Amino acid sequence: MAQTILITGGTGFIGSHTVVELIEHGYDVVIADNLSNSKLEPLNRIERITGTRPRFHEVDMRDRDGMNALFEAEPGIQAVIHFAGLKAVGESVEKPLEYYENNINGTLVLCETMRAHGCKTIIFSSSATVYGENPVPYVETMQKLPASNPYGWTKWMIEEILTDLHTADPTWNVMLLRYFNPIGAHPSGLMGEDPRGIPNNLLPYVAQVAVGRRECVHVFGNDYPTADGTGERDYIHVMDLAAGHVAALEWMLAQPEPSVEIFNLGTGKGTSVLEIIRAFSDACGHEIPYVIDPRRPGDLPASWADATRAKEILGWEAKYDIAQMCADSWNWQSHNPEGYTD
Ligand code: NAD
Ligand code: UFG
Repeated sequence: MAQTILITGGTGFIGSHTVVELIEHGYDVVIADNLSNSKLEPLNRIERITGTRPRFHEVDMRDRDGMNALFEAEPGIQAVIHFAGLKAVGESVEKPLEYYENNINGTLVLCETMRAHGCKTIIFSSSATVYGENPVPYVETMQKLPASNPYGWTKWMIEEILTDLHTADPTWNVMLLRYFNPIGAHPSGLMGEDPRGIPNNLLPYVAQVAVGRRECVHVFGNDYPTADGTGERDYIHVMDLAAGHVAALEWMLAQPEPSVEIFNLGTGKGTSVLEIIRAFSDACGHEIPYVIDPRRPGDLPASWADATRAKEILGWEAKYDIAQMCADSWNWQSHNPEGYTD
């Protein structure tokens, strides 16, 4: 019988792509999302791609009764992949209480509910942000450094909370996946990133300039100590990231003993802002206008993964290059210029 996996945040960007990958690997998928940063339309798109509609529960993770009702309605949940959370770095600086409350409380209620229902296997969406100002490439064994914003602290703290949970009760099986910069879209053009309002992240912004929704890209600083002076990041195709979750889940469920494991999910390569703009111009077939602006406060010059551990242990490595990531982003954006419309 298919194993049932609960995906919190499953209508969001990374969650929805991971749901497709899980269904295609034979898993039975249940989604929990409060739709605070997503819509219902991805459920239709998932069904069109896979032929299966995942079961959906509109619930806020902080709602104890709602989460309990979900676990009662879905008695066979074997593991949880926990994507749900608020993720805008700048907004977290303006609204620290909302970020701590949503991300930390949500995780606490989720874990309490899991424990009450005997499900103690969790994969958590962490972030490269926990490496702070460590030198690149980032290795999982590096000490975490203080975060520079409340969003980053929530990732930092949730890693600690889940680790403490395993220390107190070693039957908890915990995987902390540190993502680098997910971009791209499903190759069908049916699913992709659909940010609300003005995008904070580079790729959706570039894609909206390319499709004519915005005038030009603002490059945040060209005086960093990098090859062309602009920031370098480890961009990873969202389908590679989705495949990384399936590899992580399969590995985890096959281990004889529960543990706490940390894996970077990145490509191991850095790409600059100007290189991204050039690659996207190639993908969409026209020049993308840009201006150089001052640095954005809190940004690091460079961030990329040492991706060796995931390759050696999970047998997973990213396979798509920047050209493919931009081509798939463009395919999604040009076919869905206003994103998902419910
Ligand atoms: P997203 O905003 O598209 O998806 C998150 C989903 O969680 C949304 O659908 C939202 O409605 C839901 N959600 C938020 N709070 C909730 C709550 N209290 N109860 C129920 N649902 C709730 O974001 P994403 O890019 O898919 O990111 C998924 C996860 O990966 C997040 O935890 C994010 O912090 C983490 N992450 C993202 C990136 C990135 O650059 N996208 C990088 C590193 C880590
Ligand atoms: N940038 C621009 N112009 C923009 C947006 C971004 O020049 O309009 C630059 C940034 O300065 C940076 C690079 O593009 O050099 C990437 O910026 P993003 O905002 O796309 O991504 P970040 O690396 O700042 O942050 C992302 C997520 C975080 C996560 C982090 C590490 O937003 O949640 O990756 O995983 F923590």
